[in-house]
Amino acid sequence: GKKVQEMDLPELKEAVSICTKCILCRTRTNTVFGDGNENAELMFIGEGPGADEDARGLPFVGRAGELLTKMIQAMGYDRKEVYIGNIVKCRPPGNRTPEDEEMSACLPYILRQIELVKPKAIVLLGGTALKGLFNMTGISYVRGKFMDHRGIPVMPTYHPAFLLRNP
Ligand code: URA
Ligand code: SF4
Repeated sequence: GKKVQEMDLPELKEAVSICTKCILCRTRTNTVFGDGNENAELMFIGEGPGADEDARGLPFVGRAGELLTKMIQAMGYDRKEVYIGNIVKCRPPGNRTPEDEEMSACLPYILRQIELVKPKAIVLLGGTALKGLFNMTGISYVRGKFMDHRGIPVMPTYHPAFLLRNP
């Protein structure tokens, strides 16, 4: 079959839907590929599906998603205008943090999504997204300062679920 690096977005979504590259495939209900404008100038990357996302197959549709939608609107965008993805595409059981090997197994998908959407900027939501994309810890130290992913400015910030616990 085709390599991930050669797939377009529909092909990638199909590949993710049947992916068994890590153990998260055993407990998922639906894969959560990502959603939004495939030509978005702004892309958001979260950690991974929670219960609501796993049930619906869509990213950020639960309580954290409601806050993310408000954050997007406060930035002057409509949610439909941006693209939203996650580091892992399958829900970790009990919403535990994804393991390094699970993030590594899933990383080629988000890298290809970034390459295909070609956003002008990326917002990284939380410490796991930071770990997933930059293999780095310390969200509270780097948040609010631009980073770089292959020439794309990346703004790390707190995850909306963290903000709900710490308003
Ligand atoms: N939290 C995330 O990181 N991603 C989602 O899609 C939902 C909640
Ligand atoms: Fe595949 Fe990613 Fe799901 Fe693991 S989390 S099974 S790598 S799609």
